[in-house]
Amino acid sequence: MATILGIESSCDETAAAVVRNRSQVLSSVIATQIDIHAKYGGVVPELASRQHVEAIGPVIEQAIETAGIGFGDLDAVAVTSGPGLVGSLLVGLNAAKAIAWQSQIPLVGVNHLEGHVRSVFIENPGIDFPAVALVVSGGHTSLFLLPEEGVYYTLAKTRDDAAGEAFDKVAKLLGLGYPGGPVIDRLAVGADETAVPFTIAWMKDRSLDFSFSGLKTAVRRFAKNHDMDHQSATGGEVSEEVRNLVASFQKAAVDALISRTLKAMKREQVGSVLLAGGVACNTRLRRGFEAMGKKHRYKVFMPSPQYTTDNAAMIAAAGFLHFESGRFDGPDLNADPNWKL
Ligand code: KG4
Ligand code: ZN
Repeated sequence: MATILGIESSCDETAAAVVRNRSQVLSSVIATQIDIHAKYGGVVPELASRQHVEAIGPVIEQAIETAGIGFGDLDAVAVTSGPGLVGSLLVGLNAAKAIAWQSQIPLVGVNHLEGHVRSVFIENPGIDFPAVALVVSGGHTSLFLLPEEGVYYTLAKTRDDAAGEAFDKVAKLLGLGYPGGPVIDRLAVGADETAVPFTIAWMKDRSLDFSFSGLKTAVRRFAKNHDMDHQSATGGEVSEEVRNLVASFQKAAVDALISRTLKAMKREQVGSVLLAGGVACNTRLRRGFEAMGKKHRYKVFMPSPQYTTDNAAMIAAAGFLHFESGRFDGPDLNADPNWKL
């Protein structure tokens, strides 16, 4: 029976969690900085690291306390060491090193994207391999082939904006607030998603890669031509035209994610599909995955919303794979802002 403390500070959430035996989450504490970055319409790296410094101690203490354990009960500490904002990563990394050294337990550096993939396993421990995983967040949009546990091949990635970034930028240009994903998700309910026929073209080279910046530009142009940019201030009534516009954007973005995932499933002849990352919260995307599963008889796995956006339970869960196979890191573990999974 092993117990791992997970620490996550790669972007704008300071998080710590205690996980036992791979998937039993004893605590998961998340201090979000959304309010601080909202007025800038995006994450400000300097503010993020300063905020992590303030939050990291109390968040870890609370995770330990809520789990009903002491530091002496931990078998390892797993921490996100990349990719992410370097100043933010270092805050979590230094805290993890101090705990590992003080408690004389192994330190495990975890790739943030592996964390997102493993978030799916917390509530679904028995996923069959091989599988395909779509990881969609504010910083990443990737399709992975998982031939077996702990092995990841990149099948496709975004060539420009990440999916979540596209949601955030579209919301920003329309003055709808930050982060854009949840706002657009909400505004699209009951709106006419066929109002504006946006589409995302396939790459010319048979690749399954994604591209969202053209869609964002198309939304910007449409909004400008119809005098819709910045007309709907946060808190006020959002017009039907704007709701239809964001619903149409959401449809195009989600359709692109699903069509490429489906093509990957067919190409790789795989029967299990995983959805993870902050955008996996999206109602339309979740429904689309369910429908795809039903139609093609795929097994579909996704985390409940609490494990889609950044959290530390997923980092601890990923840490278990390394811990069990004895892959530990030394005190020289460094942050790797561009670490590729
Ligand atoms: O995984 P995450 O917390 O952080 C990164 O690793 O980037 O993802 C945050 C992203 C943001 O871009 C946010 O707008 C998006 O996830 N997001 C959503 C929804 N909830 C969060 N996008 C679409 N629909 C949602 N319901
Ligand atoms: Zn993330």
